[in-house]
Amino acid sequence: MENLSLQEKTTAASTTAELLQAARKHLLFTANRPDVVMSRGQGMYIYDTEGRSYLDFVGGWAVNALGHSPSALRNALAEQSAQLVLASPAYYNEPMIRFAELLTDISGMDKAFFASSGAEANECAVKLARKHGAMNLDGAYEIITMKNGFHGRTLAMMSATGKPQWKSLFEPKVDGFIHVPMGDLDACFAAVSNRTCAIMLELVQGEGGVHAVNESYLYGLRKICDMYGIALIFDEVQTGLGRTGKLFAYEHYGIKPDILTLGKGIGGGYPLSATLTNEKFDLFQPGDQGGTYIGQPLGMAAGLAVVRELLDRRLADNAERQGKYVLSKLQPLAGHGLIRDPRGLGLLVAFDVAEGVAAKLAARCLDLGLLINVTGGSTIRLMPPLIAEKEHIDEMAAVLTAALLEIA
Ligand SMILES: Cc1ncc(COP(=O)(O)O)c(C=O)c1O
Repeated sequence: MENLSLQEKTTAASTTAELLQAARKHLLFTANRPDVVMSRGQGMYIYDTEGRSYLDFVGGWAVNALGHSPSALRNALAEQSAQLVLASPAYYNEPMIRFAELLTDISGMDKAFFASSGAEANECAVKLARKHGAMNLDGAYEIITMKNGFHGRTLAMMSATGKPQWKSLFEPKVDGFIHVPMGDLDACFAAVSNRTCAIMLELVQGEGGVHAVNESYLYGLRKICDMYGIALIFDEVQTGLGRTGKLFAYEHYGIKPDILTLGKGIGGGYPLSATLTNEKFDLFQPGDQGGTYIGQPLGMAAGLAVVRELLDRRLADNAERQGKYVLSKLQPLAGHGLIRDPRGLGLLVAFDVAEGVAAKLAARCLDLGLLINVTGGSTIRLMPPLIAEKEHIDEMAAVLTAALLEIA
């Protein structure tokens, strides 16, 4: 490889070892990745450059809602890329309009803004809340968020995020985020002041270990927001579009937000996110919000195709059914003391393992051809594509049990 020209280097067939060597040399280090290079995917399976297959219960980190390389997404990308890839954010395009129509229709919200990542969708939500504060609440700008919550990795979203490990990272933090314990209504009430413009939370804390919010607490938050005229923001980047067994997690509670953010599954693997608002929060003036890739036709066509397919195939219902089945396979493992506290909603499931076991378990499962996710040290999270069927869950449970028994 060393003696090849640049042109030859980037097109030559490489061994996995060569690819790994080039990865270590040229990629900025951000994570400990296993010595595997993924090369293609189909449905519930992903394959590496050595031809090994993995049953995917990480699902691109709760992204590949329709599985790997679904034909709906492939066809939409092929058709739209032949037609128009990017029209500049200065102009409307038809997929953008149709996608906004579809998302507002199914969510009961009124307006949509599009971006590429969950963090950007949340940034937009925060801007709207602060705009509301500036216009209607005497300059209120503080946003109450939850300890252990997660909202993304831009500087502002790292400040909004309640991860204890991030507390002293990249100081100084963006000002104006107050963290309260999820579930403690008194603490939230005490944190509200004339500086507060919004409360923002996930309905199931995903990165925080799959902990669902309690119904009476959420009802209390809605009441507080209504009393003080502040915005209630639901970050459904992870829980949205069928993941929890309903199209939107807020349907489990029957409580609607003022601003709703979506990401991950909305593009089925194409980088896409949305901020949806009710009429009252349609507050931006020209120049307040934008971005080169907002509402670009290729992404909009991808999102349209993915969400239509998700609806046509009733994949939220499948997530609900299969999620219960996953839990039924995990209960006996808990009964035998191999795992603790299996929990979840739909196909967003987690369980805890003994200290020091989670990373070993994920590595052993990888060896055995199963992808699972470690979150928060001792928690394993399962978030497979929403197309998962019983046979995949049986396969996952068999591999998981074997790995757990080996490690125990
Ligand atoms: C609830 C939640 N919000 C926001 C994000 C950030 O999304 P992205 O990584 O696309 O910026 C994530 C990502 O895991 C998430 O789970």
